[in-house]
Amino acid sequence: MGIIKVTSDDIKVQSEAIASLRDYFTMRASERGTAFTYDIHTYGCQLNESDSEKLIGMFQQMGLTENDPASGKEPDIVLLNTCAVRENAEDRLFGNLGEFKKVKKVNKDLTIVVCGCMMKVEENVARIKKSFPYVDLVFDPQQLHRFPELLKDSLNIKKQVINVGTEDYIADDSLVPIARQRKFRALVPIMYGCNNFCTYCIVPYARGRERSRDFDSIIEELKTLADQGYKEIMLLGQNVNSYAGDDGKHTFPELLRAAAEMKEFSRIRFMSSHPKDLSDEVIDIMASYKNMETHLHLPVQSGSDRLLKIMNRPYNIEQYMRTVDLFRSRIPDGAISTDIIVGFPGETEEDFQGTLDVVKAARFDSAFTFQYSPRPGTKAAAMTDDFIPHDVVTERFGRLLELQNNLTFESNKARIGKVEEILIEGESSTAPDILTGRTRSNHLVNFTIPESLKIPGMTANDYEGRLCTVKIDNARPYSIDGVMESLL
Ligand code: 5AD
Ligand code: SF4
Repeated sequence: MGIIKVTSDDIKVQSEAIASLRDYFTMRASERGTAFTYDIHTYGCQLNESDSEKLIGMFQQMGLTENDPASGKEPDIVLLNTCAVRENAEDRLFGNLGEFKKVKKVNKDLTIVVCGCMMKVEENVARIKKSFPYVDLVFDPQQLHRFPELLKDSLNIKKQVINVGTEDYIADDSLVPIARQRKFRALVPIMYGCNNFCTYCIVPYARGRERSRDFDSIIEELKTLADQGYKEIMLLGQNVNSYAGDDGKHTFPELLRAAAEMKEFSRIRFMSSHPKDLSDEVIDIMASYKNMETHLHLPVQSGSDRLLKIMNRPYNIEQYMRTVDLFRSRIPDGAISTDIIVGFPGETEEDFQGTLDVVKAARFDSAFTFQYSPRPGTKAAAMTDDFIPHDVVTERFGRLLELQNNLTFESNKARIGKVEEILIEGESSTAPDILTGRTRSNHLVNFTIPESLKIPGMTANDYEGRLCTVKIDNARPYSIDGVMESLL
């Protein structure tokens, strides 16, 4: 137990394991005449996406390339980076593992690796041991930096390797290989783990105690990203507002301001904020810097003060609405999104009405809505007497969804006629010649380029990462449309 810093010696062990795996894969590839490949499946949140970027970085250093499904070949290593936040993720994992059994029959070299938050849940590891003996390696998210060493062990001993510990590691991310998956958007974790223990949530068990990265190391990483031409950065953590640096001497507003001062970045985003920790200063910074996203993700979870207490969320709706009102008055063009759980144990119709009321009062621009799912080991999972019947949950969920869908549509309609600054994400999947991007308020926009603004020889994807202005002329339920006015 406890928080352990990953040392340069640990990184040396990692590099040595990578070098030896590179030799091994090169030798085996020349024996069989084809290169070794990997396939990675990432479930869940952006922190998992960020972990996968590190795992891909390690794969690349081992000399592996991503398997191309069009080649008709099966990969040599399949890695599943799992999520444990809600139940359906488990169903998908165990379903997928069944499928990989067939792949293993075709490719005897196949190594199956399972990592991520689900691997900190004993039941899941036990199920793998019992029912999926052909899984080669299991490790938990805290052991990420040890992946090369564990993979080497697994290839050597040729039986299932399970490495799930109780330590919470913190590595200097600048020392770990990382293969960023997006051309212009960089994910930058600033802290790991969570200390909040909301009673429904598995994250504190899966990701361990909250630990902040060293301030200077984050700033160094940001400078490197700016030099490399990244335009959008996403500061990530379960509760970014309680960021303190590894010495406890820093604050989130200090870090956010330092990032916003880097003019190379066109857009700075952060996720997630806990209502109890979001300071007015953060809203001030969002209002003051042009490169700050004007979108706040502020999970409310429930509109009932009574349920918030049982959820161990230490704020009430009056306090929550104070933050919402402050944000709306300081940043009138901004947007607020939220997370809401329906059917938490003991939720009465009155509690649920409270949720509908807060949604109406806050006029959320968008919301992620979830049906409560009991997570093993959490306090709420033991409240079995208070579980809400499934049909009641789905009925309430339907009412919430209808309300929120209308508000999301309204929020999109309110953009019509405005000229918005868009960070271009590339070609839209909706139709050729249409680009897609996001407003500062994180609204998704599909737009055309008038002939007069088209640059000869430039393909749609060359626009990726550039800023432009777009006149909004139409709203849809989940996106808005417009026409480019100028390329910035
Ligand atoms: N059941 C349903 N939703 C959950 N979330 C977290 N744990 C659970 C659970 N047990 C939701 C919360 C959180 C989001 C990431 O997932 O709303 O903010
Ligand atoms: Fe889970 Fe609550 Fe931590 Fe968010 S703040 S990760 S909901 S325990």
